[in-house]
Amino acid sequence: MLVKDFKPILLDGAYKKGEWAIEQYEKKGGYQAARKVLSMPRDPATNNVPPLIEEVKKSGLRGRGGAGFPTGMKWSFVDYKSKKSRYLAVNCDESEPGTCKDRVVVTYNPHMLLEGIMIACHACGVENAYVYIRGEYVVEFEHLVGAIAEAYKAGYLGKNAMGSGFTIHITPHRGAGAYICGEETGLLSSLEGDRGYPKVKPPFPAVEGAWRCPTVVNNVQTLSLLPSVITMGAEAWSKIGPERNSGPMVYCLSGHVKKPGLYETPMHVTLKEIVEEFGGGILDDLKPKAIIPGGSSMPVLRVDGKPYRASNGKDLTDDFNIRMDYDTLKNANTLLGSAAVIVMHERTCMVSALYNLVRFYHHESCGQCTPCREGSGWLEKLIARIYRGKGKPEDLQTLLSVAGQMSGTTICLLADSVAMPVGAFVIKFREEFEYYCQHGKSMVENPIPL
Ligand SMILES: Cc1cc2nc3c(=O)[nH]c(=O)nc-3n(C[C@H](O)[C@H](O)[C@H](O)COP(=O)(O)O)c2cc1C
Ligand code: SF4
Repeated sequence: MLVKDFKPILLDGAYKKGEWAIEQYEKKGGYQAARKVLSMPRDPATNNVPPLIEEVKKSGLRGRGGAGFPTGMKWSFVDYKSKKSRYLAVNCDESEPGTCKDRVVVTYNPHMLLEGIMIACHACGVENAYVYIRGEYVVEFEHLVGAIAEAYKAGYLGKNAMGSGFTIHITPHRGAGAYICGEETGLLSSLEGDRGYPKVKPPFPAVEGAWRCPTVVNNVQTLSLLPSVITMGAEAWSKIGPERNSGPMVYCLSGHVKKPGLYETPMHVTLKEIVEEFGGGILDDLKPKAIIPGGSSMPVLRVDGKPYRASNGKDLTDDFNIRMDYDTLKNANTLLGSAAVIVMHERTCMVSALYNLVRFYHHESCGQCTPCREGSGWLEKLIARIYRGKGKPEDLQTLLSVAGQMSGTTICLLADSVAMPVGAFVIKFREEFEYYCQHGKSMVENPIPL
């Protein structure tokens, strides 16, 4: 169900020149939420603000980085008994293929992010926040640095932020183009100046993160939504969207649609509405075939209406009209992830699409864990063999078996990020993979080039 009169929060002012200046943001009521929050006292025993954490819990805000973990709950896991410094790491690595939402917030609404960071810092008793920003984001980085300078000049950051007596520093930190540095512990390793290797959890960053101190890691959009939570009040905010899936979502629509782009709306929306209403329908008026609902690592949905045999032997059909929220997609054996909706039409060869995707994950594996390092390499080699017309019928079982052995056996979830799409592509479009193995070419007539 489309919410027609919804007024964007995160994309407010997006693509308008000069919108990123502090004066523009303040004209719209910006920094009032931070001012209100900074007047709240900290608990002397824990140096945090429990009522503020409760308010965020009440809003139902779930992390926009991919896992959809409840933000207030994450903040309550911080080791507040520790005498060590606490940190906030802002995840602006944004490297998941299909995902391009955080960059627009940082470019056009950087002060909304800074205000959100201030709110999170105060809630969790943090003095130093780091924004880890993807190395390729040059303009975004310039806007971020400019906004931080403006906020310091206005007295909103630094010692005695907004005259509150509390200290809040924000430091930008540029990545160097590695996908794995988006994974929270890889990000922290890289922030410390080491190779961006993920670490075994537990301990989770909230207990032992940056420089072995308690650290909150949150996505850009998670934090940017906080001013609206405070301004509207948790109760009202929680009513945007379906129950347990509150707040607006920015869907990154790409692939074979007429109008790709970013669309912000409550999560009542269905996949069909995103494609047809926002995206203007399928490119060249062809039929939809497959859609990845949440970034390339999430299991694909088969939307051509044809059934497939699931691993439990049941014949299933995916629903093109599925509601695009965390829980509904999880129940359909896929995930909302980063809300990057990648649309493939009927002229897409699923073998070549999977080959493209697996090459990326193999390249980005950091190599620490054998199942991920070797498994992603094996998957790439097997799919390459099929793609080049040399596949054998038993390759499909080998593909599923290798993918199955990668899941849940590694330090981080990158291994699952390649295993999940491989499983879904092969199971849901098995006839295409079989045809390719038997005939050495695609079953799709006139397929679009890789
Ligand atoms: C391989 C991998 C890559 C990830 N990349 C990103 C990313 O680019 N941006 C992001 O916010 N989260 C990314 N995540 C999720 C983060 O580890 C972490 O859960 C997130 O930043 C937490 O923020 P949130 O609670 O606000 O969602 C990635 C996770 C994995 C396993
Ligand atoms: S799962 Fe892959 S990316 Fe993650 S730590 Fe292991 S080797 Fe590195």
